[in-house]
Amino acid sequence: MPGQPPAGEPAPADGSLPDSALLGVGSRPFGVYVHVPFCATRCGYCDFNTYTADELGSASSFGSWLEALRAELELGAKTLSARGPAPAAETVFVGGGTPSLLGAERLGSVLDAIRDTFGLADGAEVTTESNPESTSPSFFEGIRSAGFDRVSLGMQSAAEHVLKVLERNHTPGRAVEAAREARAAGFEHVNLDLIYGTPGERDEDLRRSLEAVLEAGVDHVSAYSLIVEDGTAMARKVRRGELPMPDEDVLADRYEMLERMLGQAGLGWYEVSNWASGPAAECRHNLGYWQGGDWWGAGPGAHSHVGGVRWWNVRHPSRYNALLAEGSSPAQARELLTAEDQRIERIMLELRVKAGLSAEVLDEDGRRAAQQAVADGLLRSEELAEGRCVLTDRGRLLADAVVQDLIT
Ligand SMILES: C[S@@+](CC[C@H](N)C(=O)[O-])C[C@H]1O[C@@H](n2cnc3c(N)ncnc32)[C@H](O)[C@@H]1O
Ligand code: SF4
Repeated sequence: MPGQPPAGEPAPADGSLPDSALLGVGSRPFGVYVHVPFCATRCGYCDFNTYTADELGSASSFGSWLEALRAELELGAKTLSARGPAPAAETVFVGGGTPSLLGAERLGSVLDAIRDTFGLADGAEVTTESNPESTSPSFFEGIRSAGFDRVSLGMQSAAEHVLKVLERNHTPGRAVEAAREARAAGFEHVNLDLIYGTPGERDEDLRRSLEAVLEAGVDHVSAYSLIVEDGTAMARKVRRGELPMPDEDVLADRYEMLERMLGQAGLGWYEVSNWASGPAAECRHNLGYWQGGDWWGAGPGAHSHVGGVRWWNVRHPSRYNALLAEGSSPAQARELLTAEDQRIERIMLELRVKAGLSAEVLDEDGRRAAQQAVADGLLRSEELAEGRCVLTDRGRLLADAVVQDLIT
């Protein structure tokens, strides 16, 4: 949930949704996202909605956030049951911020609050993000017995000088060690996040990071090219000339290295920035975002989507707590997506997934652009003949440009 949300229209204070959105709730995949807005320190590149203890002062504590979160989940279950039973969560994703700062017991309370409100579907996927430095064997054992079955760890790099530029506060080996501890505690599904293209990163650094990831034996890897987000400490350093911008050609080379090394180790791409050891290791929660599912995003600044209505919460934890304490919805604003908005969104998201996009979503110009993309080696010809747009390896490097071509 990086950056500032769009303006939107005011969201109703009682959190209600139009009937058009409620229609079909339960027939689409449904997930719950929980935003934990706390971090020990702020990494220089990050513009997620997160606060250090110094920034919050006494305005918000873990306890007051948890109380407000529970109230929002109650409101959510009530809202979605207005026209029929509220759907049980098929996936849960606790993200941040730094969920592991809460400790295992509070994370267990978050999951209990979801069980008590929406309920958890049988076989639900339950993930928490965690930062390597705030985890331990007992933390993993605690969250495993609380019901989490997937852990996503922010590794970013195994090179000390890269972690320094990113202003990460864990040692190079800690993420891999944490992944091993998670596996030893019974987690079959463990993800490591990497960032590539950081100023000063060499081919050799990414190669070593990938070797470390593969040694950890995880079944999922997310790798993001570094984005220099406006308003971050890193953007200021780039503006002052203290750091160079990541180089597009270097990013493409690094992506090819990721694909080669992960592929050789049996991890295949299923979304442009995500690789998994097989279908059972793919993140179902994120697939729900990419493939038009419904989700309730709870917590400060969290975004939600139900049946073509998108809304987002107030960002500051103290404002979030105050609204819920007075019985109001924490939603700040919302957008009712038109059929055309939804069509464009499908192109933007589904094209990035390996299953691809149905060519029926394209208009006439888009279909012509898809034929051209096949000729340019960016979309797979066999799949297009069967009515699906699927990126080639080269197309993945230019995914944003292909999306633009298919839209315009
Ligand atoms: C927002 S973090 C939350 C998880 C956790 N706090 C952490 O840092 O590991 C989720 C992931 O987003 C990615 N990320 C955040 N900001 C980014 C940026 N500016 N460019 C690329 N990736 C970014 C990082 O890989 C990070 O692990
Ligand atoms: S720990 Fe994660 S969420 Fe917190 S500032 Fe760093 S990247 Fe952002």
